[in-house]
Amino acid sequence: MEPSKASYTALVTSLMRALHTRSDPAPLLDDPWGDRLVPESVQAGLRDRAMARLDPAERAEAAPARVLDAAMRANAAYPGVILRSRYTEDMLAAAVARGIAQYVLIGAGFDSFLCRRPSWAEGLQVYEVDHPATQQLKRERLRHCGIAESGDVHFVAADLAEETLQSALARSSFDPARPTFFSWLGVTVYLTREANLATLRAIATVAPVGSELVFTYIDEAALQPGHAGTEGFRKLRSDVSGVGEAFLSGFDPATLGALLLETGLVLTEDLDGEQTVARYDAAGTNGLQRQRDGAGYIAHARVDARVISAAPPAA
Ligand SMILES: C[S@@+](CC[C@H](N)C(=O)[O-])C[C@H]1O[C@@H](n2cnc3c(N)ncnc32)[C@H](O)[C@@H]1O
Repeated sequence: MEPSKASYTALVTSLMRALHTRSDPAPLLDDPWGDRLVPESVQAGLRDRAMARLDPAERAEAAPARVLDAAMRANAAYPGVILRSRYTEDMLAAAVARGIAQYVLIGAGFDSFLCRRPSWAEGLQVYEVDHPATQQLKRERLRHCGIAESGDVHFVAADLAEETLQSALARSSFDPARPTFFSWLGVTVYLTREANLATLRAIATVAPVGSELVFTYIDEAALQPGHAGTEGFRKLRSDVSGVGEAFLSGFDPATLGALLLETGLVLTEDLDGEQTVARYDAAGTNGLQRQRDGAGYIAHARVDARVISAAPPAA
């Protein structure tokens, strides 16, 4: 990502969660903050871009807000963005019931968990780790929305291409002795394989056995030259690359379990897009079915053994 600019993809995914909440028939998320956290200037720019894609006759008749909503719903990332948040918060709730006391959002973006903290999460220490430019805008927006920063929410600015998660968390009150739940949603694809492996090792280094991780990844085969993929995936890849957030790496679903073991984690669940939709929208009520393109996965893992030290990411 561009060092001085907040993540564009994080702003768009925030709007997607709000759109789902306000207009899908049986919302899986209750996220009224998704719109509010995104500056009006950004929303206006997105509306303009969506309108510019219409032909002139359609444009004359169209309502810009509706056109943007339709464009976001048609985006290949939309179902995965909704489903990954729901899956993660279900897993988090179960983990909290088991005694997990810290929640680290790696690449938190404009995730609004801290604005709508459910009663089961009272007392949870929340750590948002994100690229400095994204986090700065998030904090400005929280202030703009009148959300006071409370003592149990901690912001850790870090470029994970340049430093390890371990060294970033060391700047905070994060307690390595307490079982922790990590989420890492929509981020691994924007980091190199080396940075991703360093982050996985860091999780097993800083958190005790029994700590948990939910993360999304894409099948690395989808990034190989000549891979056909779906039109939606190709368009998404081209769009994000155009805003300076190119897809950099994925994992091989066939070998992910073995890879995680090497980093001190045990894979407990790995769902592809179809399986995630089958769990949360089997009847198609929200229209979240998506074409099987081999791209999007969500995985759950547990820290199985502490690793001694985390390797630094490639510069
Ligand atoms: C697609 S957004 C996902 C945001 C959020 N997790 C969500 O699900 O909406 C990608 C996130 O990764 C973060 N990110 C990308 N590259 C990063 C890096 N090198 N270091 C830290 N964070 C990074 C961005 O700042 C952004 O918040």
